[in-house]
Amino acid sequence: MTRTALITGITGQDGAYLAKLLLEKGYEVHGLVARRSSDTRWRLRELGIEGQIRYQEGDLADACSIQRAVIKSKPQEIYNLGAQSFVGSSWDQPVTTGIVGGLGVTHVLEAIRQFCPDSRFYQASTSEMFGLIQAERQDENTPFYPRSPYGVAKLYGHWITVNYRESFGLHASSGILFNHESPLRGLEFVTRKVTDAVARIKLGKQHELRMGNIDAKRDWGFAGDYVEAMWLMLQQDRADDYVIATGVTTTVRDMCRLAFSCVGLNYEDHVVIDPQFFRPAEVDVLLGNPDKAARQLGWKPSTSLDQLIGMMVDADLFRVGRE
Ligand code: NAP
Ligand code: GDD
Repeated sequence: MTRTALITGITGQDGAYLAKLLLEKGYEVHGLVARRSSDTRWRLRELGIEGQIRYQEGDLADACSIQRAVIKSKPQEIYNLGAQSFVGSSWDQPVTTGIVGGLGVTHVLEAIRQFCPDSRFYQASTSEMFGLIQAERQDENTPFYPRSPYGVAKLYGHWITVNYRESFGLHASSGILFNHESPLRGLEFVTRKVTDAVARIKLGKQHELRMGNIDAKRDWGFAGDYVEAMWLMLQQDRADDYVIATGVTTTVRDMCRLAFSCVGLNYEDHVVIDPQFFRPAEVDVLLGNPDKAARQLGWKPSTSLDQLIGMMVDADLFRVGRE
């Protein structure tokens, strides 16, 4: 029998890769799309799946629209990926970030509780919840200490997921995912900002790259690998929480070095430090321990940072070259 999934945030990086994965597995895929004045489906087009999705109009801030989407799609699996996901913007839009990324989770959980209590639920939690890290390598037992309105909102989303699992027995899992990137990453995030700039500088369309704190360290993986982990979590008999990471951390500086070296350039000749890109509070270092995911889900990342950045630089060179 065909399985049905509903994805919120289907127009985002992860939503697009997850939709492709589920379609390949034979799922009927429904996607929640918020009303916007301009086109948001470019990633789905890029992956060649725009016409295979059943779209449900709705917004995570609007509980009625979430209920309607759940009732209409009757999903066996619900992946809640929708959020204002850019940490930097969360200080400028703290309330929206909290309503969508925090309370919005309760809207989905309530709809499940009332209309499809047997559905399985995935919550897109984040390593940003670890913030000011309380352990050198962060795992499922590491205490949280969020450092941005985004991290605080996501912490609410995480705990309400755990709470609905424990209170109502929902099959609700929380994936604590570390940074994951791809050629479909938004241009505001640091890896894509850098690979896009590398392509422009190489092709003579830009000369410098203005950056914030390049001493920050992140555990970066490939988004295509990480959506596999989301799906695996919902195939388990028991819902649970999992850290998904590579177990390797790298400075933004070294990621820049790597990206510029892909086209034979030296990052030091082009990167300019600009205070406007520093954050009110920084997450200095993230380093995940994905042992539980390896043990229980059989999940392992398949893409190194070198491969990932190489793939992103190639894609940006191709795109910028055709502009
Ligand atoms: P993304 O590219 O920024 O996509 C965010 C998605 O959320 C978009 O489809 C967006 O729709 C949708 N959205 C925003 N506001 C909404 C609202 N009010 N109602 C319904 N949908 C709304 O993010 P991503 O990188 O794919 O990440 C997916 C999820 O994982 C997010 O929740 C993010 O916080 C979380 N996460 C990401 C990472 C990472 O490294 N990528 C790591 C850990 C956790 P529009 O296209 O219409 O704006
Ligand atoms: N965006 C950006 N732009 N970041 C910069 C810049 C810059 O010019 N210069 C330095 N950085 C540093 C940031 O200060 C941060 O320490 C690091 O690069 C990564 O920034 P982002 O790529 O914007 O990602 P993030 O780590 O803040 O958040 C992403 O990962 C989280 C998981 O840890 C997002 O995808 C979140 O949604 C996700 O939850």
